Amino acid sequence: MTSQMDGDMAIVIGASGGVGRALIAALRLDHRYQHVVGLSRQRPPDMFDDARQTWLEANILDASSLLLAARRVAALGMPTRVIVATGALHGPSLSPEKSLRALSADALAEGFAINAIGPALVARHFLPAMPRDRVSVFAALSARVGSIADNRAGGWYGYRASKAALNMIVRTAAIEHARTHPLGVCVAVHPGTVATPLSRPFIGRTPPSRLFTPQVAAGHVLRVLDGLGPEATGGFYAWDGAAIPW
Ligand SMILES: NC(=O)c1ccc[n+]([C@@H]2O[C@H](COP(=O)([O-])OP(=O)(O)OC[C@H]3O[C@@H](n4cnc5c(N)ncnc54)[C@H](OP(=O)(O)O)[C@@H]3O)[C@@H](O)[C@H]2O)c1
Repeated sequence: MTSQMDGDMAIVIGASGGVGRALIAALRLDHRYQHVVGLSRQRPPDMFDDARQTWLEANILDASSLLLAARRVAALGMPTRVIVATGALHGPSLSPEKSLRALSADALAEGFAINAIGPALVARHFLPAMPRDRVSVFAALSARVGSIADNRAGGWYGYRASKAALNMIVRTAAIEHARTHPLGVCVAVHPGTVATPLSRPFIGRTPPSRLFTPQVAAGHVLRVLDGLGPEATGGFYAWDGAAIPW
């Protein structure tokens, strides 16, 4: 362990999600982090505040709630890991579209709000709070289907497009962040296919070897982030550390 990591803090936005909860559990076991902060709309039942863990209410679509959360985080310390683990693929008014005929303006707007605009607001409020004097990583969980170059199967218009938009936001924020935080890393990460409520309706034919538990996926994501240095900023990485083409 290096002394530069002493007293580090990690933040997970989307603390109530499948991957988000597993990230928090894994970060708590990593004693480089003196404090782990989870943000979500509602407190997850197993997330109690203690000397090393704090839960804060935040809705990624409400800039004022993010501002308030960022102020409370600043009072706790400086985050060296910020992981945006929010996202939506389906819901009461959201369903992956198989064809152009299935497109709806409202569903597209909802998907873009959750998958692209929310994480952009998180970056706006949390990237400036990261330290300038040491390596720190801001990561937004994206999805390989957001890669334009990798799109061979089509379908899922809204989810694909909103994740592609997220990737551009991450890339653009990385360029701006590097001007003030030369040691900062700002990336998009694909966690693989993970057995969570987000993927549940769609994982039927996923081979077991390609379907990760949230715990395994969290381990992969944290390992990838640990391996990134400032030269990696602005990139899009898979769960195994491989770069994904835009
Ligand atoms: N699971 C997969 O196979 C897979 C594959 C590729 C990429 N990903 C990406 O990985 C990330 C995590 O997904 P997951 O599988 O863990 O999904 P999940 O279990 O459905 O969790 C999604 C999280 O997003 C939060 N969220 C949605 N809208 C929000 C809002 N307005 N404000 C605050 N939080 C909001 C949810 O909070 P509530 O509990 O309040 O709704 C929940 O914490 C997502 O970005 C997803 O796109 C997942």
